[in-house]
Amino acid sequence: MTGLPMRVPMDGLPARVRIHEVGARDGLQNEQVAVPVEVKAEFIHRLAQAGLTTIEATSFVHPKWVPQLADAEELFPRLAELEGVRLPVLVPNERGLDRALALGAKEIAVFGSATESFAKANLNRTVDEALTMFEPVVTKAKEAGASVRGYLSMCFGDPWEGPVPIEQVVRVSRRLIELGCDELSLGDTIGVATPGHVTALLTALNAADIPTDRLAVHFHDTYGQALANTLAALQHGVTTVDASAGGLGGCPYAKSATGNLATEDLVWMLHGLGIATGVDLGHLTTTSAWMADRLGRPSPSRTVRALS
Ligand code: HMG
Ligand code: MG
Repeated sequence: MTGLPMRVPMDGLPARVRIHEVGARDGLQNEQVAVPVEVKAEFIHRLAQAGLTTIEATSFVHPKWVPQLADAEELFPRLAELEGVRLPVLVPNERGLDRALALGAKEIAVFGSATESFAKANLNRTVDEALTMFEPVVTKAKEAGASVRGYLSMCFGDPWEGPVPIEQVVRVSRRLIELGCDELSLGDTIGVATPGHVTALLTALNAADIPTDRLAVHFHDTYGQALANTLAALQHGVTTVDASAGGLGGCPYAKSATGNLATEDLVWMLHGLGIATGVDLGHLTTTSAWMADRLGRPSPSRTVRALS
């Protein structure tokens, strides 16, 4: 076992991919055990040392809705010395934005839904009410000089509503872009997408004047499709991919959401394809194995298991 994949490039893929690491947020929001704030801070520092340059840190949501991230005010200041690392945080509303800006957050993310059922479950709003809630958030964030990512959940399927029509996803995507989101992350919250569906959605978004360079993909691995879907997105020209160290994650408000695409599995594929990420796979794997010990269960990432 070499610990590194053999490098064999394929035509038509980007030379570099930016990994948007979500383990500390999407991963830890779903843990049953409370993770101490100093462990979270160490996790994020270790991820940065492993070469990740965009690390989603936490969420400024209602603490009763996501108690796992109720320590955002304690955590964020502990990351102050991480120079050169982008530390986006989730905010659902103006209250969340004010909390984030007060601590000096420079990147925020709002999170909408393509379906009514999930908008209600996750935000206690209809799809359009959520967009109305985001409007002043995006405006005020931009006035404060922060960049804004728009997440869109349930882009492929929804646990209550089943398959989600592409036109429905395109409509909400357009609204998020019109609100001023710099980037749109397409969430397969419950992991049901397959590669042809990914290509079809990306093509439809391009046809609605949303260029590929504004798009990121956010795959969950429920049905083992996350890497195949990622390859389809890369072939379409996407260069920002969300992933979670060790495959931590899910969403407390979507029953069938399991772990995100594991960052290690992604890095193994990207490095095998000769695509640069800046990530040291050995260092990252050690970090995820360390975090799995803190959580008291093995990492679901195949790569972490293979290399540990
Ligand atoms: P609500 O109950 O409708 O809240 O929840 P409200 O607006 O009626 O306000 C009620 C009280 O909460 C008020 O206090 C507010 O001040 C307070 P009161 O006046 O009664 O004393 N409040 C807050 N306090 C602190 N921070 C805040 C905040 N907002 C209101 N930000 C709300 C609406 C949006 C707040 C709630 O539904 C919520 O917090 N939801 C967050 C759910 C969440 O974080 N889900 C996980 C992230 S999404 C995800 O994981 C998917 C993703 O990974 C992509 C994918 O995979 O698809 C991104
Ligand atoms: Mg997610």
